[in-house]
Amino acid sequence: KIQAIAMRLIAEHDLPPQDLQALLENNSPQLRRTLAEAAQELCRVYYGDEVYMRGLIEFTNECRSDCYYCGIRRGNGAVRRYRLGEEEILGCCRRGYDWGFRTFVLQGGEDPQYPPERIAPLVACIRREFPDCAVTLSVGECSDDAYRMFFDAGAERYLLRHETACDGHYRMLHPLRQRPENRKRCLRTLKRLGYQVGSGFMVGSPGQSSAHLAADFQFMKELQPQMIGIGPFIPQRDTPFGHAPAGTLELTLLCLSLLRLFFPKALIPATTALGTIAADGRELGILAGANVVMPNLSPQAVRRDYALYDHKLCAGDEAAECRDSLALRMKNVGRRLAVSRGDAYGFPPRY
Ligand code: 5AD
Repeated sequence: KIQAIAMRLIAEHDLPPQDLQALLENNSPQLRRTLAEAAQELCRVYYGDEVYMRGLIEFTNECRSDCYYCGIRRGNGAVRRYRLGEEEILGCCRRGYDWGFRTFVLQGGEDPQYPPERIAPLVACIRREFPDCAVTLSVGECSDDAYRMFFDAGAERYLLRHETACDGHYRMLHPLRQRPENRKRCLRTLKRLGYQVGSGFMVGSPGQSSAHLAADFQFMKELQPQMIGIGPFIPQRDTPFGHAPAGTLELTLLCLSLLRLFFPKALIPATTALGTIAADGRELGILAGANVVMPNLSPQAVRRDYALYDHKLCAGDEAAECRDSLALRMKNVGRRLAVSRGDAYGFPPRY
């Protein structure tokens, strides 16, 4: 029965929600193997053996939001706050460029000291100095005007995970003033403005059921994001969910394969969180259907402070300095690290 549903997904790239839920509830090594093989094959159709890399610059950990799962939430008094200046950020890009990065992801908390009026000129600066590179922003929920300003300044991509598509579950993970409608509104605005949009969710977040996960897929079928970032939920000790169990490697890998099969052209990273719960997590992620890696380009001195969750990788191969060993890891799973912007299929670069 389960194998028959899997074969149908592989043939049709879609499933009714109840069948998707059945797969999620019957996660076995055999099911994972079947789906992973099909997912990898499908990924090769559009992206060949290339794995794209993004240089992640975590430029501020100040945040006005208070998400219960996140280590840099406003309510966490135990974290040392930092904010990189424009010159430091440009320095990260310069180092990154020399290592072969052609996409810079500027990610940060929702920092009032980094308003849109400050972020937009920074994006323009980076685009001017590195015309052959893409800038991806990931700075949370903003106004439509702000998103337009970023786009006009040269940002072509935006990452904003929807976290969970079910309003009730969203409210369980966030304080009341953070509204699920607003999150979804932001995502639709970003799509309308012409961004390559990244959405996604945590696997195994507190209170998450297979029905919630099926709803996440349904939401993304409507949104049609170009990028989908998922990783296991990992508790951070100074948050309200500090003692909740982490999401599992097995369910995350199953979700990666399912995502590839539902969204064949999507850019799907093997995330840091996946690399954190298992030493070979990112390789396994690639084998399950992911095709992007996002090593850390932030200055060493602040890496530890971007503590979304406990034990977050920030040294070794997670660091951009270790591009060669990352390349070797990808080679070991039959793939090649590409020195290219790695745009979504069908999205030409905007120079
Ligand atoms: N565990 C795993 N992922 C987390 N994120 C935030 N906190 C955690 C956590 N404790 C993810 C969220 C956010 C992204 C930047 O990091 O999904 O969108």
